[in-house]
Amino acid sequence: MSKNILILPGDGIGPEIVAEAVKVLDVVNQRFALDLNMEHALVGGAAYDEFGTPLPDVTMDKARAADAILLGAVGGPKWDNLEDRELRPEKGLLGLRSGLELFGNLRPAILYPQLADASSLKPEVVSGLDILIVRELTGGIYFGKPRGIRTLENGEREGYNTYVYNESEIRRIAKVAFESAQKRGKKLCSVDKANVLEVTVLWREIMNEVAKDYPDVELSHMYVDNAAMQLVRAPKQFDVMVTGNMFGDILSDAAAMLTGSIGMLPSASLDKNNKGMYEPCHGSAPDIAGQGIANPLATILSAAMMLRYSLDQAAAADAIELAVSKVLDKGLRTGDIFSAGMTKVSTKEMGEAVVAALQEV
Ligand code: NAD
Ligand code: IPM
Ligand code: MN
Repeated sequence: MSKNILILPGDGIGPEIVAEAVKVLDVVNQRFALDLNMEHALVGGAAYDEFGTPLPDVTMDKARAADAILLGAVGGPKWDNLEDRELRPEKGLLGLRSGLELFGNLRPAILYPQLADASSLKPEVVSGLDILIVRELTGGIYFGKPRGIRTLENGEREGYNTYVYNESEIRRIAKVAFESAQKRGKKLCSVDKANVLEVTVLWREIMNEVAKDYPDVELSHMYVDNAAMQLVRAPKQFDVMVTGNMFGDILSDAAAMLTGSIGMLPSASLDKNNKGMYEPCHGSAPDIAGQGIANPLATILSAAMMLRYSLDQAAAADAIELAVSKVLDKGLRTGDIFSAGMTKVSTKEMGEAVVAALQEV
């Protein structure tokens, strides 16, 4: 049965890296007779420039109708000073996540052995690293109300946000995390700030309650400041980590660096039926946009996650992951993962190398 994939390139390096992932999808589409239909739409700053809004109805309608979505990245300095914050490119991304109820964000930090030298940590600290960060994506302080900037009686302005989670939001992300842990090393570390924030006291309580349904998974709890430290001290102690929206955003960027570069970290954002949006964890990288040097592998690996999680095409996903590994074996590196003795390649050359390697796997 044919599947509709919505491609949302976005801004900055988004279109450059997505173009390479689409080439890879085109190849597996043929090779595995997947019957994928790919359609493009605008989101973020690109959509604002065209339609005056970062998430036009036409894009949202296509997103709802699609079987899966592949997104590049949104945002950039061009739109950073928009008067109306609702029109910022990032609001387009947040609108897709909340509108489609993509509450379960999986961010796997896996070190390809070929990249041990590219990691900022010593090879022995990171070799064999394979952790999964499960980030709650549609709640917490990102979406809590009230929020805004108000003027006080004394004329001073005050910014405020609300960090809130209800029990059902915590319970559903807990289930995603426990089920993920069950399929892996059976260890789950829940990251919170329960020594200070009531919202995470409740988070911890619900995690403990849900744990009773998963007796084969060993649950531990850690404060977020310690978790950040442990991630760079001894990351291999972790199997699956589960945390709220903001802590997960921060910890996953830190975890990305363990794998050599933020350009290596893919993600899946899933709803309760495993319909999903797939995107690299990094942003639109305005500092290198338009130069053709961005690493497309996080996006290509996100396309592999899409095949695995939303399209039930594990063989095609395996083939892409193996092709990426073969390209790294050949010593091809974009600038962000470059080390001495390797061959520096452009975004396009990296994408084409993955396409070529797919013929061999
Ligand atoms: P960023 O992730 O865009 O860039 C951080 C650094 O990492 C930069 O030096 C960049 O060059 C580098 N980098 C990122 N991706 C890379 C890649 N694939 N290859 C090589 N180097 C790469 O974060 P930022 O600079 O804080 O944010 C820039 C813009 O992106 C902002 O507007 C922000 O809101 C947006 N953003 C969007 C997303 C998303 O769409 N999912 C995620 C994060 C940030
Ligand atoms: C990410 C990004 C987004 C987030 C921004 C662009 C809204 O940093 O996907 O990690 O904070 O979730
Ligand atoms: Mn982020």
